[in-house]
Amino acid sequence: MTGENRALRTRSLSILIGLSALLAACGGDQTDPPSHLEETRVKSTDEFVSRAGNAIDPATHPGNALFAENCAACHNGRVPKAPATVWLEMMAPDAILASMNDGIMSAQSAHLQPSERMQIAEYLTRTSLEDYKPPAPPQQCAGDAMQFEGAAPAKVGWGHDTTRFIPETVSGLSKEQVANLKLKWAFAFPSAVRARSQPAIGWNTIFVGSQDGTVYAFDLETGCAKWTYRASAEVRTGIIVDAEEKRLYFGDFLGRAYALDAINGRELWRTKVDDHPNATITGTPTLGGGRLYVPISSLEVTSAADPTYACCTFRGAVAALNPETGAIEWKTHTIPEPPTKFGETSVGTAILGPSGAPVWSAPTYDAKRNRVYVGSGENYSSPADENSDAVFALDAATGVKVWQTQFTVGDAWNVGCMMGNENCPEENGPDLDLSAAPLIVPVADNREMLVIGQKSGVAYGLNIDNGDIVWERRLGHGGTQGGVHFGMTTIGDKVFVPIVDMQNTYDARVYDTSQYGAGIHAVSASTGDILWRHIADNVCDGRQFCDPGVSAAATSIPGVVFAGHLDGRFRAYDAETGDAIWTFDTTQQIETVSGEIASGGSMSGPGAAIADGHVVINSGYGLYYHMPGNVLLVFAVDERA
Ligand code: HEC
Repeated sequence: MTGENRALRTRSLSILIGLSALLAACGGDQTDPPSHLEETRVKSTDEFVSRAGNAIDPATHPGNALFAENCAACHNGRVPKAPATVWLEMMAPDAILASMNDGIMSAQSAHLQPSERMQIAEYLTRTSLEDYKPPAPPQQCAGDAMQFEGAAPAKVGWGHDTTRFIPETVSGLSKEQVANLKLKWAFAFPSAVRARSQPAIGWNTIFVGSQDGTVYAFDLETGCAKWTYRASAEVRTGIIVDAEEKRLYFGDFLGRAYALDAINGRELWRTKVDDHPNATITGTPTLGGGRLYVPISSLEVTSAADPTYACCTFRGAVAALNPETGAIEWKTHTIPEPPTKFGETSVGTAILGPSGAPVWSAPTYDAKRNRVYVGSGENYSSPADENSDAVFALDAATGVKVWQTQFTVGDAWNVGCMMGNENCPEENGPDLDLSAAPLIVPVADNREMLVIGQKSGVAYGLNIDNGDIVWERRLGHGGTQGGVHFGMTTIGDKVFVPIVDMQNTYDARVYDTSQYGAGIHAVSASTGDILWRHIADNVCDGRQFCDPGVSAAATSIPGVVFAGHLDGRFRAYDAETGDAIWTFDTTQQIETVSGEIASGGSMSGPGAAIADGHVVINSGYGLYYHMPGNVLLVFAVDERA
């Protein structure tokens, strides 16, 4: 094998492991055929290499020894707070350098020469930085475009509401106008293969995060930048805005929550919300009752790929922060007690449990009852307990659990199961997270139903007072890459449930599309009765990493449901009939505001933001068997049409 090939192989293996973890988190299938994995390795490597320069051979690169000597002891995944190495490998090279030069690692790097720091960053990112130039800054706004005027940001989307419905007073868009939506401008995120931070819109500005950690404030009309702020790691949560305080909140990949001044992008505070080396923030924080609720998830399932790793110690949690200061007021773990030694694997590695039950979704704040609702994912190790794949109602003032309801019993799973190693728990569970935010939906007689969806493909209506299951409806086949992923939406008492059901995760012979399937399903929030279903057409035509299903969160306005599909099509559905009334292919070549040609890819994670007659969406999800892409797309009604 040539040195170059070896470099590619080694890099791809580590990407593969990172990838498996997210699959576990939000997809992931222990029964994936090996050929599929092989393809993904090659593809992921290509994507990564094209992002920053030429591949280096990590085995022989001098950065390897430098990292081992100076950094690995803390970053080996066993020291609290220090992000595990796999996370550092996913950072942008200039962000790693910045943390050593003048960031939080400057003390640990003070004795290293500039060339040695460079070598460490090269080793971690597996790319030569010899010709590396940081991306050009976005076009700056000037004059009137610098103003923050016009309608203030509304409490919609995940911006501290309880469903994903946008009223017409906010959307400024009628059902009739949707057919005339045209692309107004587009932006290409630099150094990115995915774009998954849900934007917020207000004061004629779009606020959005990105993979290299940059948060942007773009002029809604023209796409020039009013300011940018650089967090050190990927921002994949949505951005939420407190319109009164003029503050933005979001979380990063390394488990920090941030507050910025919305008008100038200045950092007001940042708080590390969890000490675990694998902790991360995926779901969008929620504001309500004077607190900021931050959901905490992790990729520790990945660490179990090493049979000598004592799995596992992470526990999912919600932290409530003071929005003024970032101080943590309370923190409630899904699993109340820290894990203890439960046994040993056949190769003598300790089994620590119970663990896992991460919180992937945006918490839902219930102002009427002063509560917060979240769902959890699977246990990472034995014993499986009552806290995995469950919904929790927490008291918003204290974090105390009011009730909890579990949907799948015995779901303990980690990447060891995918690798067939001794760390796979004896339960070898199906990995059926509740990863979409619970919705509070008004129904008859002045009541409210708590509606949730699971990766199992089943949606449920719960009695909001005590968590009892009122109805359940199977809408998808489900599985680790199936069922409900990121978010449902509502109009009145109708719930629109996106189903992903990736094609490699089920046996086509038993998949009955007259009963369920990938696409959008409309159900009654009172009874779960099916009102219509639109099974997604397969327009992939054999295209690699293309899938028809809907993984991204859906967003609605009166009469219309917007959904981004894994095939890269952004569609609007008639809420009454389920007919598709508008489609845009985000994978086409698109000219962006910088003049650069870029394209989107699979659409996953957060959904569309809609305000002031504009529909704003990200496209591209270059990981976990999906198509890469890096665009922000802004649509508005073409009045001439
Ligand atoms: C003494 C333990 C220790 C050593 C040695 C150490 N780190 Fe860290 N590192 C940490 C901790 C703890 C954090 C998280 C700090 C936080 O988020 O507050 C961290 C964070 C980081 C981050 C994330 C930075 C950011 O801005 O978010 C990077 C990158 C990093 N370390 C790289 C390195 C490199 C490269 C070396 C070797 C030159 C190194 N570290 C040595 C403990 C260590």
